[in-house]
Amino acid sequence: MSTRAPSPRPKPWIADIHAYVAGKSAGADGRPLVKLSANENPLGTSPKALAALADVRIPSLYPDPDSIALRAALGSLHGIDPARILCGTGSGELLAVAASAFAGPGDEILYVRYGFSLYDIVARRSGATPVIAPDKDYGTDIEALLALVTERTRVVFVANPNNPTGSFLPKGEIARLHAALPSDVLLVLDQAYAEYVAPEDDDGGLALAAAAANVLVTRTFSKAYGLAGERVGWATGSAQIIEVLNRIRGAFNLSNSGQATAVAAVEDQAFVDASRLHNTRERARFVAKLDALGNHGIRYVPSEANFVLVLLEGALTGEAAYTGLAERGYITRWLPGQGLPHGLRITIGLSDHMDAIAEALREMAETARSEAA
Ligand SMILES: Cc1ncc(COP(=O)(O)O)c(C=O)c1O
Repeated sequence: MSTRAPSPRPKPWIADIHAYVAGKSAGADGRPLVKLSANENPLGTSPKALAALADVRIPSLYPDPDSIALRAALGSLHGIDPARILCGTGSGELLAVAASAFAGPGDEILYVRYGFSLYDIVARRSGATPVIAPDKDYGTDIEALLALVTERTRVVFVANPNNPTGSFLPKGEIARLHAALPSDVLLVLDQAYAEYVAPEDDDGGLALAAAAANVLVTRTFSKAYGLAGERVGWATGSAQIIEVLNRIRGAFNLSNSGQATAVAAVEDQAFVDASRLHNTRERARFVAKLDALGNHGIRYVPSEANFVLVLLEGALTGEAAYTGLAERGYITRWLPGQGLPHGLRITIGLSDHMDAIAEALREMAETARSEAA
């Protein structure tokens, strides 16, 4: 009798993974909706980046395997030696290679509850055990994270600002977390939304990545740079960490168009600044309208990102708000799969859209309350 299985079997830690759920772009009936479910840039893409698409090299040729021009542009913008910069197919690739390079079966990877959903996937994919620290009113709790550090901890993921909560740890807190971690634990500071944070509130991640041997900062072109479809991310850390990650990242991991548009986007900081200013203004206007809905059991987590996690704790449920907004033409992100059945993450879009959403929430909350009475 053969002891062989009838078909290839995935490793048990792979079998435990639930595939990443992306933000939807259409309603249940397939009708296209205003997409506020994936934290993309409502202003689109820098015109200079779009113009660069015209100069892209012919598709029959492989792209530059080392993204040299992009690393030089990023190095010059942020004052980083390009040797300490690594580009990835979105920052998602870099989170995955960081987990796999530094953790494996028997090890632990630590992050907070209501952290970015990809951390579970990349941790399990490496074979390590995910360990989840409790939150503090939806925010990252450094004490809770540190309390769960063990001999087996290899990687700690902290998104700052965090997705889906939008919460933010200031510089002093990041420094305190890093100082308390053992030196052989890799602290991955995921700064996917860093460009939305006011420059004076910088969390110090890039400086830490330059000075410490156990910090990796990841960033993306998918959000404020408006290039989500080009799949471009980057990371910086010590030369040793970057050299290790370089060994296992995808060969030719950035396309010709990804590299060309990202270089042009780096050179158009005016577009990034305009995106941040739009976001800051519209987010403030939107949450001011939500403030007026407190008596309907609607509140939100204070956000430093380009989205707001709205908490529906009254007669209007998260599911009903999600469905009602979709019926009105807006697709948002309802999060029951992340332990937030009362949570709706709404990307900050154009002014008119945010006004319409705030008004729809008010209207639906009033109807739900009178129906419940
Ligand atoms: C916190 C965080 N990190 C990383 C990413 C990955 O983005 P990308 O792979 O497009 O760079 C996202 C995307 O939503 C995110 O929210």
